[in-house]
Amino acid sequence: MITTTGLTKVYRSRGREVTALDGVDLHVREGEVYGVVGQSGAGKSTLIRCVNLLERPSSGTVTVAGQDLTALAGRGSRAGADLRKARSRIGMVFQHFNLLSSRTVQSNIELPLEILGVSGKERERKALELLDLVGLADKAKAYPAQLSGGQKQRVGIARALAGDPKVLLSDESTSALDPETTRSILQLLRDLNQQLGLTVLLITHEMEVVKTICDSAALMKGGRVVESGTVSEILATPGSELAAELFPVGGEASGPDRTVVDVTFHGEAATQPVISQLSRTYNIDISILGAAMDTVAGKQVGRMRIELPGRFEENVVPIGFLREQGLQVDVADTKTAAPADALLKEGAK
Ligand SMILES: Nc1ncnc2c1ncn2[C@@H]1O[C@H](COP(=O)(O)OP(=O)(O)O)[C@@H](O)[C@H]1O
Ligand SMILES: [Mg+2]
Repeated sequence: MITTTGLTKVYRSRGREVTALDGVDLHVREGEVYGVVGQSGAGKSTLIRCVNLLERPSSGTVTVAGQDLTALAGRGSRAGADLRKARSRIGMVFQHFNLLSSRTVQSNIELPLEILGVSGKERERKALELLDLVGLADKAKAYPAQLSGGQKQRVGIARALAGDPKVLLSDESTSALDPETTRSILQLLRDLNQQLGLTVLLITHEMEVVKTICDSAALMKGGRVVESGTVSEILATPGSELAAELFPVGGEASGPDRTVVDVTFHGEAATQPVISQLSRTYNIDISILGAAMDTVAGKQVGRMRIELPGRFEENVVPIGFLREQGLQVDVADTKTAAPADALLKEGAK
């Protein structure tokens, strides 16, 4: 539904160049909720603005619903009209709502329809229908200043839906809201996704948002996508940074000669018997440093951080045992784990 290939954006200001996007290939499937996460300055907002051509990419292409928007962004006025039309099929929701304070709620929602030249009667019908959809049927005549943050964002969402978009883009749309309001807005986005078949591309810096509603996610760093996939693919990827952030388990090694291991299991798999079996088989004491069960993308996932006595080299066999039981095992010690773990996998071939 949304595809970017080699998307690059270089800002030039006061003789300085900033590469905000550095060859981003993104693929959002029809009907999914796709989350892009990353720290401030990673290029998330630039990406979303390039997707609807509010920002013109330096190079690369953007295709939305089969239409190459970058080709439409050429100078010709005919193409300009086509681009405006294509853009009206892409809704956008902002962090700070961007409502006009002098207009009523209803008239804020009608604004994009006015621009599209829709008649007054039809605009009103559409605005009231959308207000009903976002649960604000009684607020048509209110002004933005009379609404709570969550209500303002509902208006922002209704306005974004005015052009019957296929795609909704959301840039930190819940970042200005308290946790409970955030949950209700995420639920609304999920409902719209399911009821209207709306494809949603959302930008966030909150892992909780990804956990609650995303089918797929990507992690951006320094203008690049460094990890991406469906949430279950991500959780099943050994060493995935996104997986660790989506599903953190605390706990530090209790001493230098210890091996800390994260065990991830999906569904109902019980780790407890496996851990005691491991302990008995190899006659080792295992400490549980942390454990959590959670629902990620609608599926039960568990993670347990355990500590084994001895350095990694001494635990190659017990770790192999855990993997043989079908558990996903990541050695958490960052200093030595990566190369040592790679060696283990090499040896297992
Ligand atoms: N209009 C602009 N002019 C110059 N530099 C910009 C502009 N917008 C963003 N940048 C720079 O591009 C990089 C990515 O910014 P942004 O896309 O806003 O990241 P994020 O949304 O992930 O915080 C940052 O280094 C930022 O300073
Ligand atoms: Mg941003």
